[in-house]
Amino acid sequence: MANPTTQTLTADAAGLDQAAALLRQGALVAFPTETVYGLGADACNDHAVARIYEAKGRPSFNPLIVHLADLDAVKQLVVWNDAAEAVARAWWPGPLTLVLPLRDGAQVSKLVTAGLDTLAVRIPQAPVARALLRAFGGPVAAPSANRSGQISPTRAAHVLQGLSGRIEAVVDGGACHVGLESTILGLAGKPTLLRPGGITLEQLSETLGAPVAERRDTETISAPGQIRSHYAPRAQVRLNATDWNDGEARLGFGDVACDLNLSATGDLTEAAANLFEFLHSLDATGAETIAVSPIPHVGLGVAINDRLSRAAAER
Ligand code: TXA
Ligand code: MG
Repeated sequence: MANPTTQTLTADAAGLDQAAALLRQGALVAFPTETVYGLGADACNDHAVARIYEAKGRPSFNPLIVHLADLDAVKQLVVWNDAAEAVARAWWPGPLTLVLPLRDGAQVSKLVTAGLDTLAVRIPQAPVARALLRAFGGPVAAPSANRSGQISPTRAAHVLQGLSGRIEAVVDGGACHVGLESTILGLAGKPTLLRPGGITLEQLSETLGAPVAERRDTETISAPGQIRSHYAPRAQVRLNATDWNDGEARLGFGDVACDLNLSATGDLTEAAANLFEFLHSLDATGAETIAVSPIPHVGLGVAINDRLSRAAAER
């Protein structure tokens, strides 16, 4: 699906059915929420999620927000708690994202959490977003539908400016009502504001009946994705392996003999989709070292190498 033609879909039942069908096929579909347009993909499909990073030109695997239609669907993915219940009652559906512990066995691609043991979830309020989530019937991973480093899109035309030819479709639902990304509240531990947004710290503190801590400036929102140990397998990791030593688990790329191949055809999107899964599998073999073929440092390869270099870094 390289260089797809980007269709503009209408925000009525026919358009949303088409959008849901595309998501089921692993396509990328941008859609309006009340905050910004999201770049949606089936959150259970590794390849589709990997394509989000590719389409955005994101240099690293930031964890993504999963969008759901209702509370029952949310509770299947995360460990629910009293604080979550309180803020969800007060503010969902709406421009609020909650970070909660990922449930054991939750059906969601590891690329969505970037290997973290928490998951960001949100029930959006925009009718078009809710109708799409109901039509699709599963979790949708969606960062803002802009190229990395560019301004967030609040209209279908903004999405097309950045992503035309890189995604399959955009649902045109007019302008976004909030126009600013959701507030992110961490509830895996002490309630902590991880990103300011449409709902304020004061409002959340009032709902919870206790002050919400603010993440200090130095701990940027991308920090969870940057914590080295989250990517480190138990085994040592040897990078740029062009030969294999006895006893090593062999993680290949391209036309090489190995234990698991990130992509035998040298496809970086496929490699990104397989990366976390395969590191887990090879670690589980009990090998002392996982040796990894060189990965070209272009496109998604930069992100793959970023994660691999963290996995290989001194602990
Ligand atoms: O309003 C929004 O939130 C929009 C719409 C589309 O829903 N989405 C959005 O996604 O802004 P994005 O990917 O641009 O920002 C998501 C933020 C990132 O900064 C990421 O680091 C943080 O959420 N995040 C996601 N999962 C997290 C986790 N498990 N722990 C901490 N932060 C997390
Ligand atoms: Mg963004």
